[in-house]
Amino acid sequence: MKTALITGVNGFVGRHLAELLKSQNVKVFGTSRMSTNMLTANIIDGVIISDLDSKENCIQVIDKIKPDVVFHLAAQSNVKEAWEQPSSTFFTNTVKTMYLFEAVKQVSREIRIVNVGSSEEYGYFEGMEFPLTEDSKSNPLNPYGVSKMSTALLAKQFFEVFDMDIIHIRPFNHIGPGQMKGFVVPDFAHQIVDIERGLQDPVILVGNLSSKRDFTDVRDIVKGYALAAVKGRKGQTYNLCSGIATSIEDLLQMMISLSSKQIDIEVDSNRFRPIDIPLYYGSNDKITKEVCWEKSIDLIQSLNDVLEEIRKEEWLGKR
Ligand code: GDD
Repeated sequence: MKTALITGVNGFVGRHLAELLKSQNVKVFGTSRMSTNMLTANIIDGVIISDLDSKENCIQVIDKIKPDVVFHLAAQSNVKEAWEQPSSTFFTNTVKTMYLFEAVKQVSREIRIVNVGSSEEYGYFEGMEFPLTEDSKSNPLNPYGVSKMSTALLAKQFFEVFDMDIIHIRPFNHIGPGQMKGFVVPDFAHQIVDIERGLQDPVILVGNLSSKRDFTDVRDIVKGYALAAVKGRKGQTYNLCSGIATSIEDLLQMMISLSSKQIDIEVDSNRFRPIDIPLYYGSNDKITKEVCWEKSIDLIQSLNDVLEEIRKEEWLGKR
């Protein structure tokens, strides 16, 4: 891989992927919706301001950069927000992905697309078998899951019908430094740091603690994307996950144990969703065997790094 294009480069995952690819001497370009928050501007070779909101717009971007690989990260990735804004979530996640596929098809089918889906594509049903494999039956339970599953189906069709070089990856929950509030780990971490600073009573507000998720550090996730871009098989889908289910209750206790403060827990009904998948964890056998990916950062290390980063930002007055 000589030249990569990362859509949504200034997002949580984009920044980590840009850093990794630069360390591998790849020329990296990115798209960003806004000209503010250009967090990667000094790291990468160029940022194009684009909303990717038409096929023509996508063609212009692809034609200008002529990448070997497009990492398609740009998305509305918040499940709760997808319930509040289902149509704009579908437009951002699905229609814009279709524009990108059409653009690459027109410019050059030699370009590889690493399309980022989600474990939310699997959803849930009674009797579902775990760990989830790439062939598991799916039943997405929210508009976000539907939007991502639709891109998986499009990726398959564009590969089968037009022989396009698309790989679809289903990352499970990822966490780490730089993640915005709205996801469980930063939501808890910011409150813990506020409590440590005396800005919040020593009570943490939480949503559903009974669900179980499969967490992986974002720095391991981006290694998976980079390896898949080089070693993945065209037309394939790969899970990217730790294979371990952790309850949100246990996650919360781990985070509280990383603080020196005595913290009580209060359930806040506003933090619940219309429907919440009770459990999922995946099998990473396929990506481990085919692209030699392996996880290197433990959950407790990730949680500690997240807390430390927020503590530092607080000192620097960046929040
Ligand atoms: N966000 C949030 N905030 N979630 C909470 C809270 C809270 O205060 N308290 C409990 N939860 C529970 C949620 O109800 C959910 O069961 C679980 O914690 C994880 O929530 P999120 O971190 O918001 O992640 P998600 O599982 O809904 O979706 C994430 O993972 C997917 C991959 O599996 C997102 O990152 C998606 O973009 C991603 O595709």
